[in-house]
Amino acid sequence: MLGIIGAMDIEVEALYERMTETEVRTIAGMEFHKGKLEGTETVVVRSGIGKVNAGICSQILADCYHVTEIINTGVAGSLKAEINIGDIVLSSTAVQHDVDAGVFSYPPGEIPGLGIREFPADEKLLALAKECCERVNPEIQVFTGRVASGDQFIDSKEKKTRIHDTFDACCTEMEGAAIAQTAWLNKIPYLIIRSISDKADDSAHMDYDVFEAKAAANSVRLVTAMAKALSH
Ligand code: ADE
Repeated sequence: MLGIIGAMDIEVEALYERMTETEVRTIAGMEFHKGKLEGTETVVVRSGIGKVNAGICSQILADCYHVTEIINTGVAGSLKAEINIGDIVLSSTAVQHDVDAGVFSYPPGEIPGLGIREFPADEKLLALAKECCERVNPEIQVFTGRVASGDQFIDSKEKKTRIHDTFDACCTEMEGAAIAQTAWLNKIPYLIIRSISDKADDSAHMDYDVFEAKAAANSVRLVTAMAKALSH
């Protein structure tokens, strides 16, 4: 069973519409839509925004649906000049940019006790996503790199520069690394797929409103193609 998490309606509604044989169950206030997506047994869910929601949602996918892979789809702010609005970033790893236990000599992003700072994405899902993205979204660029997540909408040059310079991340959003951490703890392969809606700077809020829908559509196209490939 494939698990797909989006934080917002715009990121999952198009997937619900493409599903067949759907059963809906509400757990922790989240609607889990289980059915077939392009022939693949899939659960699609809107987690809500932020790392806590994303972690809870991922654990439910593990415990109640025994998912074998988790894909996180959605939008993100770009942290690099060459990554433009509309482009897609695939996670090589994910890190939490708002974790700081530096006083105990931990590097930025490392949660004490875990023994790992960033959570590696699954190589097979990554290769499949690259191949599908080049096929279904040929007009955009696709990048692979670090995703930095935190419970903040990044909307200034200062905040953006700190995250970029500390983590050398490609994009920033608010759920991915929590999903990655939960997947890592449960030994479930995962991948974050983020379509760029803004540049995480002073124009982020304006750009986000304009480009969110277009960016989300690119992610949906890619995730649908991956579900189809996984059914074979
Ligand atoms: N999601 C989309 N754009 C974002 C940004 N700039 N910061 C955090 N999450 C985002």
